Amino acid sequence: MGEKEEGGGQPPHGSLSWSIDNSFGSLEKLIAKMNAEGAVVQGSGWVWLALDKDFKRLVVETTSNQDPLVTKGPNLVPLIGIDVWEHAYYLQYKNVRPDYLKNIWKVINWKYASDLYEMECP
Ligand SMILES: [Fe+2]
Repeated sequence: MGEKEEGGGQPPHGSLSWSIDNSFGSLEKLIAKMNAEGAVVQGSGWVWLALDKDFKRLVVETTSNQDPLVTKGPNLVPLIGIDVWEHAYYLQYKNVRPDYLKNIWKVINWKYASDLYEMECP
C-alpha cells in the first residue's frame, strides 16, 4: 500500500496473502469489497474478513449492531473486524463513513490477522 505506517497497515505476506489473492483477486479488490459493504451497513454494525473453516476460504460478511460474526455461521473465524458504528469515526470523519473506511487500512494489523489465519490453516 506504500503509505506511512501508523501502527499497522503493512500488507499481509505468506499464506494469508495467497488466500486473499485466490479468494478476491488481490488485496486491493478485497479492500474495495470491504469498503463497499461496510459503507452500506444500515445504522450501526461491522464488516468482517472471515475464514470459513469448513471450506478453508475467505469471505466478507457484515453484521448489524453488536451482533458477532458467529451469528452468520459457526464455521466463520473472524480475522479482521471493522467497527462501522458512528462512534468509531465521528470525531475524525463526521458522518463520512467512506473516508473512515478508506483510511482504516493504514492501521489494520495484518500480522495479527495472518497469525489467526495460520492457526486455523497451518
Ligand atoms: Fe465501537
